[in-house]
Amino acid sequence: MISFVLNGTSVDVDVSLDTPLLWVMRDHLKLKGTKFGCGMGLCGACSMIVDGVSTRTCILPVAAVANKHITTIEGLGNPQMLSTLQQAWVDNSVPQCGYCQSGQLISASALLNSNPNPSDAQIDDAMSGNICRCGTYPNIKKAIKAAATNQVGVQTFNPSELTSGVVA
Ligand code: FES
Ligand code: FES
Repeated sequence: MISFVLNGTSVDVDVSLDTPLLWVMRDHLKLKGTKFGCGMGLCGACSMIVDGVSTRTCILPVAAVANKHITTIEGLGNPQMLSTLQQAWVDNSVPQCGYCQSGQLISASALLNSNPNPSDAQIDDAMSGNICRCGTYPNIKKAIKAAATNQVGVQTFNPSELTSGVVA
């Protein structure tokens, strides 16, 4: 059994402690927005914010997040209530195939939370671990700058399906 705070809600999960956080999220908590890419900590598709830091969860044992605060893509907003960062993504037509975009938004959110007005170099540095096969990098940078203008960081809401309790 392990406990952590997920998108603002306390959860307990009964899983093997060496299970990667990505699979706890997708298979046990049924939050499918975070994607599996390389499985080796190299592409950023599986990024979640763990205690403020964009973190590769395909190689992170769930034991490492005991009592920590985790934000997934589901915690940033939803189609009915986009965060300003997500709206900037839409306004700048960032996604192409979309596969990497959950991880991109998570890393951008972590960046803006810690640095509301990043320079180009700081954006490049913060986003360098998130790979996009479609080459959306220029529009990602435009969207981050647009969101920064509005002083946006992570906007966490509580998905109604997430409640405290044991999840097998
Ligand atoms: S799937 Fe985790 S870094 Fe690629
Ligand atoms: S939008 Fe296709 S991989 Fe990034």
